[in-house]
Amino acid sequence: MCGIVGYIGPREAYPIIITGLKRQEYRGYDSTGVALINRDGLQVYKKKGKVAELEETLLGKPLSAHIGIGHTRWATHGEPSDRNAHPHTSASGKLAMIHNGIIENYGQLKQELLNKGYTFTSDTDTEVLLNFIEEIKKNNKCSLEEAIRIALKRVAGAYVILVLDADNPDTIIAARKGSPLVIGIGKGEHFLGSDATPMIEYTKEVVYVNDYEVAIVKADELILKNLGNERQTLYITKLDMELAAIEKGGYDHFMLKEIFEQPHTIYDCLRGRLDAKAGTITMKGVQDNIEQLINANRIIIVACGTSWHAGLIAEYVIEELCRIPVEVEYASEFRYRNPIVNKGDVVIAISQSGETADTLVAIEKAKENGAIIFGIVNVVGSSIARISHAGAYTHAGPEIGVASTKAFTAQLAVLTMMALKIAKEKGTITEEYYSKLLFELEDVPEKVESLLKNADEIKTIAEKYKGASDALFLGRGYNFPVALEGALKLKEISYIHAEGYPAAEMKHGPIALVDENLPVVFVATKDAYHAKIVSNIQEIKARKGKVIAIISEGDEVIPGMADDVFVVPPADEIIAPMISVIPLQLLSYYIGVAKGCDVDKPRNLAKSVTVE
Ligand code: F6R
Repeated sequence: MCGIVGYIGPREAYPIIITGLKRQEYRGYDSTGVALINRDGLQVYKKKGKVAELEETLLGKPLSAHIGIGHTRWATHGEPSDRNAHPHTSASGKLAMIHNGIIENYGQLKQELLNKGYTFTSDTDTEVLLNFIEEIKKNNKCSLEEAIRIALKRVAGAYVILVLDADNPDTIIAARKGSPLVIGIGKGEHFLGSDATPMIEYTKEVVYVNDYEVAIVKADELILKNLGNERQTLYITKLDMELAAIEKGGYDHFMLKEIFEQPHTIYDCLRGRLDAKAGTITMKGVQDNIEQLINANRIIIVACGTSWHAGLIAEYVIEELCRIPVEVEYASEFRYRNPIVNKGDVVIAISQSGETADTLVAIEKAKENGAIIFGIVNVVGSSIARISHAGAYTHAGPEIGVASTKAFTAQLAVLTMMALKIAKEKGTITEEYYSKLLFELEDVPEKVESLLKNADEIKTIAEKYKGASDALFLGRGYNFPVALEGALKLKEISYIHAEGYPAAEMKHGPIALVDENLPVVFVATKDAYHAKIVSNIQEIKARKGKVIAIISEGDEVIPGMADDVFVVPPADEIIAPMISVIPLQLLSYYIGVAKGCDVDKPRNLAKSVTVE
């Protein structure tokens, strides 16, 4: 949540910051601001609304500068407004700061400052922290760097901060705990970002700053220190990301581009790992920990949102193939409960961003209890990837649309390969079924490609149902979590209220909602439960509900009963979710567009949820 960008060096800072903020708008977009230092001193511009809106108002302003910071906000303390937008300035007007995270004890710090006569112009925790830093600097007559270190020792919560000092225009000071910070190293210049997207056309060398580190960033020097003022080693990582991957490439929206990328992203995820002919799955992270995985007493999956839905499908797959008990936990619940985690338990953390605060803390908790942590993450070098004992990247490439699409199918591909590898080593799967599933997995990209050719059929269905106020998504077995995912996608993209249920559960309550106005989406591909789901469709039809069914090629029963059908290529039920979810992604996209919603940046959401 909140995107931060910084630049110091010989180039013009403002265009780099504005472009970087646009790339990071997926992190939050309710207000925007920049601070620059030039020969006129410290310039701060900020405004409620998206980056482009601020940019428009700044035409003709003195923006030439070689040092600057910028922020795109997802509000935590204080409503989205001009005065709550970052950067905030200190009481003296000399310091400017941007912040991603939450200062949990800001109330106490604020009271201390109020007692000393400070007044505040915003409702934010950020303004409190900045003035707290300035107060320490003034009282201790110390440098800004030292004041920040002292202040951060008093702070509870999560933060990345970037601070400018008008009296010291050749340095940006940055610090992090619990929120991401990447520093790009150029020739005589440095770039700062919540992720690497603001810097990819300038440098491929980056440093991921660790928790409790303070970075002193000058054009030609980067120093990292811990809060105890000890120098820390700089670990430089090579970026493997191209500019094209973060551009729309001719599509109207990132979400549509990312849906259509899935044949490639699933292929990239399988590539180099799966060889169906040879009957092998090569996954180093799994192989290195194979004994622990085979002998795990229990697997606990922790995740949030769409990643949690991938975890639910993995529960079914792992229990079926590996005969290991699996529990799937919302990370936000797991971290605050007193869960039973024993040595010998394996925790799988699933996260696209690798920065979700609840998932990070859940991992830390499980680690303390002796569990082995296996991270399934999309963003290379992210915090979850770094704190896991082992893991596998999903290789879906940058996902910019706020709603997760291609990351989900890549997560399923990784989890399925993982389950197959464990089952093979454990001897809980027959040779025939193992081989069949390997070949089926290899065919997924082609099947997805073929169904995407009929995307217009979903567009037509979307037109028909765009006026609905509610929708129900039903599925059984492996398709139940797919129904949950379809409902989540529809509500976040089109703001239509939607619920996902196991199809058989509807009789226990949700059926009361059914009337001639309610669209009910059935994920009804051919599997062991097909006859049962046909009965469920009849139950809905008997109550005049409108049925939209996702069915397998060759299904001759459901087309005669449903109002609308979309046909997908047949697949084994373990593989089917990677295919059957795609029409649901398209349905929410087309309904969202038809309703005029901002599908890439739905209201109130942010892609990387770095606050709890
Ligand atoms: C839904 C969506 C969210 C995320 C959730 C977890 O489309 O994107 O529900 O899945 O916030 O995020 P990650 O996977 O980054 O941990």
